[in-house]
Amino acid sequence: MTGPKPTTGLRLLVRDLEQLATPAGNGAPLRGDALGRVEVLENAFVLCEGGRVTATGRMLELPPLQGEVEELDGSGCCAVPGLVDCHTHACFAGDRAEEFALRAGGAGYEELHAAGGGILSTVRATRAAGEAELRAAVRRHREWMLRAGTTTFESKSGYGLDRETELASLRAIVGEEGVPTWLGAHAVPPEFEDADSYLDFALAEVLPEAARLAEAADVFLEQGAFDATQARRYLKACRDAGLALRLHGDQFTEQGAVPLAVELAARSVDHLEATGQEGVRLLAASDVVAVLLPVSALFLGRPMPPARALVDAGAAVALATDFNPGSSFCESLPIVCSLACTQLHLSPEEALVACTVNAAHVLGRADRIGRAVPGYDADLILLEARDWRHLAYHLGGDLVTTVIRRGEVAFTR
Ligand code: NIG
Ligand code: FE
Repeated sequence: MTGPKPTTGLRLLVRDLEQLATPAGNGAPLRGDALGRVEVLENAFVLCEGGRVTATGRMLELPPLQGEVEELDGSGCCAVPGLVDCHTHACFAGDRAEEFALRAGGAGYEELHAAGGGILSTVRATRAAGEAELRAAVRRHREWMLRAGTTTFESKSGYGLDRETELASLRAIVGEEGVPTWLGAHAVPPEFEDADSYLDFALAEVLPEAARLAEAADVFLEQGAFDATQARRYLKACRDAGLALRLHGDQFTEQGAVPLAVELAARSVDHLEATGQEGVRLLAASDVVAVLLPVSALFLGRPMPPARALVDAGAAVALATDFNPGSSFCESLPIVCSLACTQLHLSPEEALVACTVNAAHVLGRADRIGRAVPGYDADLILLEARDWRHLAYHLGGDLVTTVIRRGEVAFTR
């Protein structure tokens, strides 16, 4: 318990936890058997100093602490690492409640999109909002995520699709401490005749500044959006500008997203509801993470992605919300974990690993976040339960009682 004094912040001792559960091992991404291994300490404590975890153990082993220590009583609760949402679209204005009602009455998501609604209706609302309003929207969405246990979120731009609004979106995300992804190829905006002329503009006029603000680039590779040739061109230019690569792929149809992701060594390919056996095989043999978004499949009434086949074949998988106003108006990773177990047939352990350390890997941060072990950022959530698996078991349960971010209590109820 001796060692260097913290440079910033108070010491925080979370004590008397029923359980502390954290992904086992120290690598990332975890796959195969390792994906399902979670270390569980009963009757545990976590000590945080200077924003990092400095010690964990059983209460029996807790030595007397000298000096000032803030204490948090964890009795009746379990702690897991702060959840990491590696795929959201949190920067948008307006809503799509009207479209939701139409879809409930039988209208199709792709049909609404083709008629100039869907994504493009959010583009209109987002363009009409100023940067301050976008920043406020990201802040509101970030707060919702935090209350559900998300301590790190990625967010894409992609509802501006003009220079000013795309860059304002990225600045709003960075300003709210989100991990920014430039989704410059989300849809073709109406002022362009076709996808190629839009990409000419986006790559020449937006990419140079977007590459300074964002960490990754993303593309919607789908019928009615961008094809594989266009996606390759966009992603290669983004890679040359120093961005990591992500793809929205195989959401409705297989259009070559998986082979393209492997060819370009993308960080991830996300959605995969339409992926067949060959795609599963390719992903399993690659370092590309399969990011699964079961709420999106549920929300649109689509088939679930082949999660079990991916995991059993040895692919690295992560889970995310896909929070956005159209296909997944849900910010809760605990709900995603429930769906992962009930719909994707993952175990609670696999679900936890997939939305902590594996998601952190997709964001290039697996050496700092996604585990509750010494040396990692002190991001922890307390669940009102005596068994940490209630995270997935308690479907829609309001079980996150306390969120600790960088060693400080960011939310409590
Ligand atoms: O991941 N599929 C493309 N983009 C989002 C949905 C965006 C929207 O409907 O506004 C997705 O599902
Ligand atoms: Fe998405």
